[in-house]
Amino acid sequence: MLTQDELKNLVGQAALQYVVPGEIVGVGTGSTVNKFIDALASMRDQIKGAVSSSVASTERLLALGIPVFDANEVGELSVYIDGADEIDHQGNMIKGGGAALTREKIVAAQSRRFVCIADESKLVPTLGKFPLPVEAIPMATQRLVRQFAALGGVAKVRMKGGEPLVTDNGQHILDVTGLQIRDPLAFESEVNQWPGVVTVGVFAHQRAQICLLGTASGVKTLTF
Ligand code: A5P
Repeated sequence: MLTQDELKNLVGQAALQYVVPGEIVGVGTGSTVNKFIDALASMRDQIKGAVSSSVASTERLLALGIPVFDANEVGELSVYIDGADEIDHQGNMIKGGGAALTREKIVAAQSRRFVCIADESKLVPTLGKFPLPVEAIPMATQRLVRQFAALGGVAKVRMKGGEPLVTDNGQHILDVTGLQIRDPLAFESEVNQWPGVVTVGVFAHQRAQICLLGTASGVKTLTF
């Protein structure tokens, strides 16, 4: 029986086949992506570099000698590789467990193809069991708590060391439990236009086209 860490290693390695030599690759954030970044070091001399979705991933890429470009310096990317907190059978995801959702969505939107790497515990029939992260402007959080309550959700400001966690963009995160997201596309469009929401952690407009799923019997490729 493979451990979760070994499954993450497997899919991190498997993602290398989607990296296009000579190009810049979009890189996500999280413990699964960290495995991919470590594997990417073996292709360092074959790629131009990466566009990163967080300070943490940028630091890891640079430490391994992989150049990091600003998203504004480059055009469309052929591929974006990132993990997920949940993924459904259509490639819709919940992301943001690592608080990097806004930059992740920006780099995903800049990429032709989203390759999700995840262990099989992340595959769900309906999104919503994992608390939904929402990046929000601090002055709006209590109003947003009430808006989520009207949908049956319980939203809490994510804390770190007794203070609200501050994202790479200087904003706060709400984690919302109690939602069943049956129409991810409509839900994302609706919540994204609530005043004070920077980004909702539903990735339906930027859903995955491919998921490399780490399972007990090896890497399974799902295409959507
Ligand atoms: C980061 O903000 C997230 O979107 C991550 O992609 C997601 O939480 C998956 O992380 P792990 O690979 O650590 O499970």
